[in-house]
Amino acid sequence: VTSAPSSSQDPRGRPIGVFDSGLGGLTVVRELCRRMPGEDIVYLGDSARVPYGTKSLETVRRFAREDVAFLLRFNPKLVVAACNTASAAAIEMLEATCPVEVVDVIRPGAKAAIELTDARIGVIATEATVASGAYERAIAALDPSRKVMSVACPLLVPIVEEGRSEDDPIVLHVLADYLRGLQRFRPGVLILGCTHYPLLSSAIGKLMGPDVGLVSSGAAVAEESYRRLSGADLLSQASSPGTLRCYTTDNPGRFSALSERFGGRKPDHVEYVGTDELEFRPVESSREM
Ligand code: DGL
Repeated sequence: VTSAPSSSQDPRGRPIGVFDSGLGGLTVVRELCRRMPGEDIVYLGDSARVPYGTKSLETVRRFAREDVAFLLRFNPKLVVAACNTASAAAIEMLEATCPVEVVDVIRPGAKAAIELTDARIGVIATEATVASGAYERAIAALDPSRKVMSVACPLLVPIVEEGRSEDDPIVLHVLADYLRGLQRFRPGVLILGCTHYPLLSSAIGKLMGPDVGLVSSGAAVAEESYRRLSGADLLSQASSPGTLRCYTTDNPGRFSALSERFGGRKPDHVEYVGTDELEFRPVESSREM
């Protein structure tokens, strides 16, 4: 990274920092931009180390700490952990160590699901997210009586990254296999607990049937981010659309080419940053929210 944009004097002009294991978190950025179009966003996609979803929670925690340390260089007013796996593994650690507030994707998604139905809740996510039990904990914290079934769907991330369409027979076959147990469980709502799954939402919706609502965390995370920023009087006052500045730890050409499919817009800037440049550097800043 050659130069980071200088931070504005007005704290409301500071960017929102967003990180993910790769491109998928741009589905969350899409919702942030829809809810708060004037906000500048700095995004880190750790594409060199994707997937996080098959790694141990200790490894993901280390990656998440490094990702946030990188974002702190941009003096963000809020950090969004857009990756479900990183949120599941590291949110407590990040909340305890990050000098600005951190919004995760798990708790807003769990809350949105509970508000949508009184019935059982299904969750599909990566292996690491399911192994962490983070969705079960987040749901139980809000409603301990709620029955939850979580299913790991490891093939879905590569399928989405490959750009296969939702009516591709391979996609439908894989989904049908993963969702069989959940169809029998008959949830009132299914949480799409991974950044990539919103891109398969119509196929998932068809297989689960019209009585099962689908929750992707993106909109709930955008709402939570809006709530925290407005509560701290940190919403951008800009009348023009905010910028989207992306950093990736792998091929920026591939990142640029695929980013619009995930984020719904072209980034204003895409730059490479090596994983060796992400290491922790303490910043002199105190919690401001
Ligand atoms: N971003 C990850 C998540 O939401 C999916 C991709 C990965 O496994 O790294 O869990």
